[in-house]
Amino acid sequence: MSIITCIEDLRVLAQKRVPRMFYDYADSGSWTESTYRANNSDFAKIKFRQRVAVNLENRSLASTMVEQHVSMPVALSPTGLTGMQHADGEILAAQAAERFGVPFTLSTMSICSIEDVAANTTKPFWFQLYVMKDREFINRLIDRAKAAKCGALVLTLDLQVLGQRHKDLRNGLSAPPKLTIPNIINMATKPRWVAGMLGTKRRGFGNIVGHATSVSDMSSLSAWTQQQFDLSLSWADVEWIKQRWGGKLIIKGIMDPEDARLAVASGADALIVSNHGGRQLDGAQSSIEALPAIVDAVGSQIEVHMDGGIRSGQDVLKAVALGAKGVYIGRPFLYGLGAMGGPGVTKCLDIIRNELDLTMAFCGLRDLQHVDKKILLPGTF
Ligand code: FNR
Repeated sequence: MSIITCIEDLRVLAQKRVPRMFYDYADSGSWTESTYRANNSDFAKIKFRQRVAVNLENRSLASTMVEQHVSMPVALSPTGLTGMQHADGEILAAQAAERFGVPFTLSTMSICSIEDVAANTTKPFWFQLYVMKDREFINRLIDRAKAAKCGALVLTLDLQVLGQRHKDLRNGLSAPPKLTIPNIINMATKPRWVAGMLGTKRRGFGNIVGHATSVSDMSSLSAWTQQQFDLSLSWADVEWIKQRWGGKLIIKGIMDPEDARLAVASGADALIVSNHGGRQLDGAQSSIEALPAIVDAVGSQIEVHMDGGIRSGQDVLKAVALGAKGVYIGRPFLYGLGAMGGPGVTKCLDIIRNELDLTMAFCGLRDLQHVDKKILLPGTF
């Protein structure tokens, strides 16, 4: 087994072990993928100020996100089809997050259902909701999330229409995969993945069973999205969902200060500065570039979280310095899952925690409570 030292090592291993269509599904963005790339490369432009001879004893990475204690301010993003990166992927990731003391967010478009994850975890996880036309279906999903005692509802607003991802179309993405000759040949080189899938019954979309008539491939998923997702979505719907849910509400997909103000007015508890990991509007700003203006606009009124492009603990510290109360990681934990299953998710979180801890030390920090832009080099952000 190769030695894993960073998230990139997990990505390389996942690429070897996960069938191409699912690896590509995770590791891609929309159209030219320019926003996908900028999400990460813009972090590299930001520089730290190195400090020395500061007392570094008793360092703590602990914080809170929507008043929930977290061992470090890093949650797992909601990601669709996670159970296709590895059999029972959502359950394994939720268990790893629980052991680590960070939130796991289950996607509406997951393979394992809300009930599957609830039955296999002991602490509350978060549930991500897409707004669909069928309000009864939303009501049922909210009721199921309440019954599972989910700790927060993450409401994604940036997917009324689906960004085109060329690789998914070319690969004929479907869950479960169609048994075409190229897929069979590719899967024959991924014996661990195949063995895992043969050992589980969870191979369809767990949360939308009984609602989706046919969601067998990406072209029908995109047709289903068009049919089901609400093109007339408005902030009044957000207020309705907030009331119906009654718990902590986190709005996901905010990239503009004007929308951030509307999120505050809707009564949300937090918002996530996010461009969906560069999978929706290609040509949008990177999330880390969008963050400061949104923190300036609403940071004193609402918790501002962010995601997109975080590949190390250093990136986490940069986002916190620019005003994020917490961040989310999507692909990094998917790479861990694809590479090594549950232990791979733990490895991913370990890597990020270790990098965050050491970077804090180099910057002369013992905790995250009073971190601000002063730890960054002026002119680099
Ligand atoms: C996503 N994302 C996403 N977001 C969401 O609200 N619901 C979803 O079902 C999904 N599905 C999904 C699948 C895959 C494979 C990826 C990579 C992403 C977006 C996700 O929550 C998050 O915004 C990004 O992944 C963050 O960027 P990084 O960390 O992947 O760079």
